[in-house]
Amino acid sequence: MKKFLVDDTEYYARTDGDGPIMLFAHGFPFDSRLFEPVVERLKSRFFCVVPDLRGFGMTKLGANGHNPNGFPRVKMGRYADDLAILVSEIACQRREKNAKIVLCGLSMGGYIALAFARRRPERLAGVVFCDSNATQDSPEKASERRLLADTITSLQIPALADEMIPNLVAPETPVKQPDVVATLREMIASQSPDAIAAGARGMAKRSDSTETLRQLDVPTLVLGGEFDKLSTPASLDAIAAQIRDASRVTIPRSGHVPPLENPDAFADAILKWYDAKINLAE
Ligand code: MLT
Repeated sequence: MKKFLVDDTEYYARTDGDGPIMLFAHGFPFDSRLFEPVVERLKSRFFCVVPDLRGFGMTKLGANGHNPNGFPRVKMGRYADDLAILVSEIACQRREKNAKIVLCGLSMGGYIALAFARRRPERLAGVVFCDSNATQDSPEKASERRLLADTITSLQIPALADEMIPNLVAPETPVKQPDVVATLREMIASQSPDAIAAGARGMAKRSDSTETLRQLDVPTLVLGGEFDKLSTPASLDAIAAQIRDASRVTIPRSGHVPPLENPDAFADAILKWYDAKINLAE
């Protein structure tokens, strides 16, 4: 992991490979380990940058990861601003100051990708929008998240992981890929209560991004697991239908976390899309 000074904190990011920059934004409550198997498959074509988002993994929450009352909260725009700073720093180090990137965001990372697209459209060559949605939380969902944020403690996090996992993976994953479930459990269980509270409060506060889908003016790949219960194939079809230049692929044998459940198909979909839509246009 490399360390980058971003705003008031130090971001830890895995960087690997060679080629155009592909930046990854993980879901909640995960960290950069979510994309590890995918980076192995993409690093021969891209310079992959996979940060632990503010508060998660090795990256500290920082003072700016709190709301004005001092409670942990990171809005989607703050994560997006962090990513913009990180990418500028990396582009400068590579002597490509204005390099455009492909941003791949999964679930909460998808919310962040849309916030990034609103703030820094000139930075984007393409978007990979995975297992996510563009609407805001219902009032019930938002209060559920605030309750989680107000009550979560370290002791409860392993139980939270056990509660979440059945909704995160395809029915066959626990039987056929117990290692994936173990990785997911370890990754969730290792997050801090503050990171979870910050992400949960930030997601509860997010606004509707449907208009951003319509305004995306770069090639966008909409990906999702065949058995994703949180962002169903039908809901992702509807999202793709609102984007001007969308490609749509469903990843077989996966639920909400295809980068772990089926990294071959996930990486193949990105490579095929990139070659068809961006590489030829460059
Ligand atoms: C994620 O994987 O990031 C979460 O499912 C997002 C959410 O809770 O809305």
